[in-house]
Amino acid sequence: MKLPKVEITTDNKTIAVADGYALIDMCDDHDTSILFGCRDGACGACMVRVLDGAENLSPMQDDERDFLETMAAEPDERLACQCRVRGDVRLEVSE
Ligand code: FES
Repeated sequence: MKLPKVEITTDNKTIAVADGYALIDMCDDHDTSILFGCRDGACGACMVRVLDGAENLSPMQDDERDFLETMAAEPDERLACQCRVRGDVRLEVSE
């Protein structure tokens, strides 16, 4: 079975993960430059830009959408702590 791959362009790294794996756990397992604070969708430290494969991340829930709106995030930004990986995705750390 083909494992989903997460490419983090900021780190020039591609990591294969189990289907449904939480992005935050992947970042804990591997050294990446995605930072985490609250780990609960409330601080914005983990914001990433999804360059490709947005449809392969778990759908955004209302709390994440509300928070990103408050932060005036771009439409391609997500909170890494709220995402599970369902397929190939390319990310960069938001500035
Ligand atoms: S770690 Fe705080 S919002 Fe993701």
